[in-house]
Amino acid sequence: MTAQLQSPHTSRVDTGPTEVGERLLRSAEIKSFDPLVDIDWDAPLDADKHGFSPEWSSLFGTDYWNELTPEQQVRLTRHEAASVMSMGIWFEMVLQQMMLRDQFLGRYHDAEFRWTLTEIADECRHSIMFARASERITGTSYYPPTHVQHLSRLLSHVAGGEWAYGSILVAEEILDVLQRGVMADERVLPLVRKVNEIHVLEESRHMHFAREEMRASLANASAARRRASGNLIATVAYFIVRSLISPQAYADAGLDPARAVREAKANTHFHSMLRSSCTHLVDFLDECGLLTPRAVRIYQRIHVI
Ligand SMILES: [Fe+2]
Ligand SMILES: [Fe+2]
Repeated sequence: MTAQLQSPHTSRVDTGPTEVGERLLRSAEIKSFDPLVDIDWDAPLDADKHGFSPEWSSLFGTDYWNELTPEQQVRLTRHEAASVMSMGIWFEMVLQQMMLRDQFLGRYHDAEFRWTLTEIADECRHSIMFARASERITGTSYYPPTHVQHLSRLLSHVAGGEWAYGSILVAEEILDVLQRGVMADERVLPLVRKVNEIHVLEESRHMHFAREEMRASLANASAARRRASGNLIATVAYFIVRSLISPQAYADAGLDPARAVREAKANTHFHSMLRSSCTHLVDFLDECGLLTPRAVRIYQRIHVI
């Protein structure tokens, strides 16, 4: 099914998670995907096509990138795409647990409850889609560093309210930034473009809901609570951005991982792409009073600000 893509950054006035949930449920009835049947999984993969737009490679513009042959660049962007999909699965597993706990004893008749379960079902399909797509393009899975795995396990067990939905929002926004630019790029594998199109469309609803849950959660929050929440959400964003491209992905692409990590960390081209794409997220965090001085420093370190 093809559908018009909506911006997740609409500035309408909402009146709470129930009303937004009602609207999103109607939208999901009209435009939703089943990746298992909507994607041609058996189509041959063109050897020249990338896994990511080259400009979105973590190494684009570096000396290392310029030393690679076109074939090596294709191989690199495919492993980078597989790494981002793997991190997508990892965080979708975290957020499903947070959302399930949030609605564990919710109001089962309410649209907020029905939407939450609809979103969890979306994420289940997305994770299967990412697993299948990364298996198809590289056959490799990636994981965040061990300490991040432990922290995310803790987050999935304890986070609620704006901690949960703020974490969900930053993860979804960052993934959206990476996937949106790839959808229309004919240098990229059609399989990956379709995966990204499905994800961007369905995630625009998720981001809308996360924003509304955050507004509701923070409506009467004290300054101290906003400070704590702002710092926690920025910390989650830090670990997500730092985990996006696993060093193992560079190794599997045939690169020296130590040099690749070093050059990616200093890649001002990638940093400016990220910064210019995250302005809506930053504006929203500011609107919520979550840009504490410490949070700003963290966002600057990962080049979101
Ligand atoms: Fe998703
Ligand atoms: Fe989502």
